Amino acid sequence: MTATNPAGADPAGADPAGTGRATDSQTGSVLRAGVIGLGWAGQQRIDAYAADPAVELVAISGKEQHLLDQLGDQHDVAGRYPDYTTMLTEEQLDVVSIATPTFLHAPMTVQALEAGVNVLCEKPMAETGEAAATMVEAAHRTGKVLDIAFNHRQRGDITSLREVVESGVLGEIYYAKTGWLRRKGIPGMGTWFTSAASAGGGALMDIGVHMLDMSLHLMGEPKVTAVSASTHAQFGPRGRGGSGFGVSSVVEDMPFEVEDLASAFLRMEDGGTLLLETSWAQWIPYDQVYVTLYGSEGGASVEWGGNPRDPYQRLNVWTEVQGMPAELRPEVGEHGKHAAAVANFLEKVRTGEPGQHVGLEALRRARILDACYASAKQGAEVSIDL
Ligand SMILES: NC(=O)c1ccc[n+]([C@@H]2O[C@H](COP(=O)([O-])OP(=O)(O)OC[C@H]3O[C@@H](n4cnc5c(N)ncnc54)[C@H](O)[C@@H]3O)[C@@H](O)[C@H]2O)c1
Repeated sequence: MTATNPAGADPAGADPAGTGRATDSQTGSVLRAGVIGLGWAGQQRIDAYAADPAVELVAISGKEQHLLDQLGDQHDVAGRYPDYTTMLTEEQLDVVSIATPTFLHAPMTVQALEAGVNVLCEKPMAETGEAAATMVEAAHRTGKVLDIAFNHRQRGDITSLREVVESGVLGEIYYAKTGWLRRKGIPGMGTWFTSAASAGGGALMDIGVHMLDMSLHLMGEPKVTAVSASTHAQFGPRGRGGSGFGVSSVVEDMPFEVEDLASAFLRMEDGGTLLLETSWAQWIPYDQVYVTLYGSEGGASVEWGGNPRDPYQRLNVWTEVQGMPAELRPEVGEHGKHAAAVANFLEKVRTGEPGQHVGLEALRRARILDACYASAKQGAEVSIDL
């Protein structure tokens, strides 16, 4: 296959990775994309790349031959690689999505960046903050883009709430509550998902990280200084609470070693606080997800969940208008989600400067998760210097 970017084009400072390829912001060409990992997450990325006319999906990699065949045929992808290293060496990719088990994110990302490829990696960034830091370091060193797929930020209600916050209607946000609670939703029981070394953690690492990301994003990225957390494993160790989520074709009968419920209280440098709760399984009627913000001039809440036959999804704002209590219902935009996460990444690749997009926000999330697990283990508040 012919590489879209001309080899050897290397204006000063444009190719810190030393790959001999020009960056896309210079060529404005169609981007050559690859995806590593063919589970649910990888398939979302494949769909998004395949639907973008400014991208050519040229290669996919995964351990399941039937998925290489099926997805390759479906999207007319010629490059099908059981070994991702061969794919990185042979395909002259501009961008790659990494959608593999969490413990593989850091080594694969570093390898891809060093091969001169811009990376969109799945959340959570890595199994520890230390592993996540190696990814940021590699992005700095190579001058390539590193982005982490926090797709829930792209929901229409979250982007609308972000506009409400930016409008100043809520005043100064000093407290927030957030949660993603599942009635029965442990993913991939017996796979890498429930192994401590492979996943780095349970519900907090898997879905709590989305709520942490959305909350800090909505609060304006305050600096977290201390964390007090607890974790529990009531369902998984008894083989209960399993679900259809994360059903992998590679089941290795691994033990359940992570939490199925976690709660955390976070202190910010500006005096603000955040309360976070998350569970894969819990005795509640139905799944529920929420972010509630409390400001000096107003409060706001995004929530969704409930009985699947009668689900709810709400965005409300409470304030005063000319001294009278007022409830506002801002218009909710389109849910961007996975396609929007990919579009944002591609925009960074096309327009970003070397060193501008290196995954720093996601690294802070990873370090906060580290502190949560340390606090839960110690049974005490843990300070962090982000
Ligand atoms: N952004 C989201 O909303 C979202 C949703 C689900 C999962 N995820 C994340 O995506 C990642 C993958 O989750 P999943 O549910 O798709 O997992 P999965 O177990 O279903 O799929 C993992 C894929 O990685 C492949 N893989 C493993 N080792 C490989 C190797 N050495 N070379 C090439 N391929 C390899 C497997 O063959 C498989 O295709 C996880 O980090 C998970 O947290 C994100």
